[in-house]
Amino acid sequence: MRPEMLPRPPAISVAEYRQRRDALMAQLPDNAAVVLPGAGLVTRSRDSEFAFRQNSDFYYLTGIREPDALLVLLPGRAEGESVVFCQDRDPTMEAWTGRRLGAAGVMAEHGIEQAFENADRDEQLLTLLAGRELLYLPLDNPEAVSVAEDALSDAQAGLRRGRPPLKGWLDISPLIHAMRLIKSDAEIALLRHAALISAHAHRRAMQVARPGLYEFQLQAELEHEFVWQGASGPAYSTIVGSGANACVLHYIENSAPLSENGLVLIDAGAEFELYAGDITRTFPVSGRFSDAQRALYQVVLNAQQRAVSAVQPGATLADIHQGVVNDLTAGLIELGLLEGEVQARIDDESYRRFYLHSTSHWLGLDVHDVGTYRLDEQTPRPLVAGMVLTVEPGLYIPSDDDIPDAYQGIGIRIEDNVVVTHEGHEVLTADVPKQIVEIEALMAKK
Ligand code: GLY
Ligand code: MN
Ligand code: MN
Repeated sequence: MRPEMLPRPPAISVAEYRQRRDALMAQLPDNAAVVLPGAGLVTRSRDSEFAFRQNSDFYYLTGIREPDALLVLLPGRAEGESVVFCQDRDPTMEAWTGRRLGAAGVMAEHGIEQAFENADRDEQLLTLLAGRELLYLPLDNPEAVSVAEDALSDAQAGLRRGRPPLKGWLDISPLIHAMRLIKSDAEIALLRHAALISAHAHRRAMQVARPGLYEFQLQAELEHEFVWQGASGPAYSTIVGSGANACVLHYIENSAPLSENGLVLIDAGAEFELYAGDITRTFPVSGRFSDAQRALYQVVLNAQQRAVSAVQPGATLADIHQGVVNDLTAGLIELGLLEGEVQARIDDESYRRFYLHSTSHWLGLDVHDVGTYRLDEQTPRPLVAGMVLTVEPGLYIPSDDDIPDAYQGIGIRIEDNVVVTHEGHEVLTADVPKQIVEIEALMAKK
C-alpha cells in the first residue's frame, strides 16, 4: 500500500532571502564587499557527476540551486547591492541538462538586483569590486580567495586610479554561521517537514524489519520513503547497523543480514528543500526486546528523555551532555557494567568505554550545522529560541571478555530533533516511537 503524501510546507520567500542579505550587509564596515561562490559539479567518474548539492551558505543567502554561481554583495551600491553571476543560457547545454535560470531568471525568480552570466564574469567582477577596501569571503574556499587575489592585483596595477585601495580580506563565514544558528519560522517549518518524513521512514523500517532481511533492505525502505515524500534523498549516509555493527558509530556498509536476536540501530534522515532530518532509533529485529536489551535501552531512553526535557532558553549543550553522562554512568553502574560511585566513574572517564560521542549538535541546512558551541573558550553558548539541535545519547557495549555475554555487542542510540522555543522546546521527531511498548506494538502490527 502506498503511504500518504504528507502536505508540504511553503518555500522560503524571496523577501526572506533579501532580508538575510540585508542583515548580513548591515554588519559590515563601510566600503566592504562580500564574495561568496556557490558549489560546482563534482566528477563521479569520467563524464558523470555526483548529484549536485548547493553550498549551504550560498543557498541561505540566495535560494539559488544552480551550480557555478557566485554572489557578490556591495553594500550601498546604487545600481543594486546584490549581484549574482550564473551559468550562461545555452540551448545546446540545456538540451542535455535542462533549463538554466540565466541572468534574467536569477533576477526575476530570486529577487537579485543585478545578474550576469559567467561569460561576462572576467569583464564585470573586478569592475564591481574596484574601490572596495575590504573583501569578506569564505577563507576556506579557493575560488573566493582567487577572486580576492585578482582584485588585489587589479588594485595594485593602479589601473583604476583615484579609487581607494583594497586593504585585504576577512572571513565571512562566522557572520553567516551566526545568522544560520537561529532559524526563522519558515526554516523551522522545513525542518519540521524533514523530521516528519524521516519519522515516517523509520516507522516503515520498524514495520518491515524481520530476521532474514539485510541491513541494506531497511536502508532501501527508508530512502524509498524519503524520495516518495519529495525529499531529495538522505541528508547524510544512512546507517543501518544490526547486532554489533551498531557499535560502529559511522557504520555505513549496511551489508550484513539482520542479526536474528539482536537489535538494529538506524540513523537516517531525509533532506527536504536542503534542510536535514537526523533520527536514530534502535529496535529488536525479532520485535521483542530481550531482558538485557530492554535494561540497557531503558537506561539510554531515560537519559535521552531527561536531556530533551532540559532543552529551553538559557540551558547549554554542555550542561545537557553532563546530565546525560551522569544518567548513563549511573545506569551502567546499576547494570554492573561499571563499579563504584557515579562521580568517580565520571571523573576517571571510564564511562567513555561505552559512550564516547557528544549528546548534541546543531541541525539545519547541514546535518552537523554551523554555529559555534561556545561564546569563548570557557563559556558554553546559552540556548535561545530558534536554535535547532539533536539529542542523541547512546551506549555501545564492546564484545570484551570482562563484559557479561548478554550485553556484549549491543549498540543503542536514540536521537530526536528539537527546536528551542520561548516556552521551552518542541520535539520535531515525535512521530516515531521510542518507548519500548510502543516499538513492540508497532512492530507487531506488520
Ligand atoms: N547522523 C549523524 C549524527 O547523528 O550526528
Ligand atoms: Mn544521526
Ligand atoms: Mn545527529
